[in-house]
Amino acid sequence: MEKTLLLLKPDAIDKGVSGQIIDRFEKRGFKIAALKMVQLTRNQAELHYCEHTDKPFFEELVDFITSSPLIAMVIAGENAIKASRIMMGSTNPIDAAAGTIRGDFALNIRKNIIHGSDSLISAEREIKNFFTEKELYL
Ligand code: TYD
Ligand code: MG
Repeated sequence: MEKTLLLLKPDAIDKGVSGQIIDRFEKRGFKIAALKMVQLTRNQAELHYCEHTDKPFFEELVDFITSSPLIAMVIAGENAIKASRIMMGSTNPIDAAAGTIRGDFALNIRKNIIHGSDSLISAEREIKNFFTEKELYL
């Protein structure tokens, strides 16, 4: 079964919508393989977003993702990576279709509620940044 890393970002916790978001993935048929609440260190955030190091939004992105606790989870299921990216909607919530998570819960490109891995390689790397093998229940 394919695995992917989801982060319910600090704005999802602030808004009190994390339960509704988890509900969508469970209803879709994904299994929760790991879940924890954590406040990221700058180092962990910079590793997580390492492909964006040179982007103009990098510092603000790291500031935001470390600003308060988030929920990190691994879900497992058929086509978990692609299916969850479609459920999330476009990066910029203004372009995200109604019915997607960002389309329903967000308006701001930085505060866009959720992260999901975008490929098998990034999923493997990102999961390791949050969970040990022992913490994954598959
Ligand atoms: P990215 O990996 O491009 O998007 P996604 O989360 O859909 O995989 O960007 C990572 C995060 O960086 C994104 O969720 C929000 C933030 N971001 C900005 O703050 N400004 C921007 O212009 C972009 C493209 C992203
Ligand atoms: Mg991305």
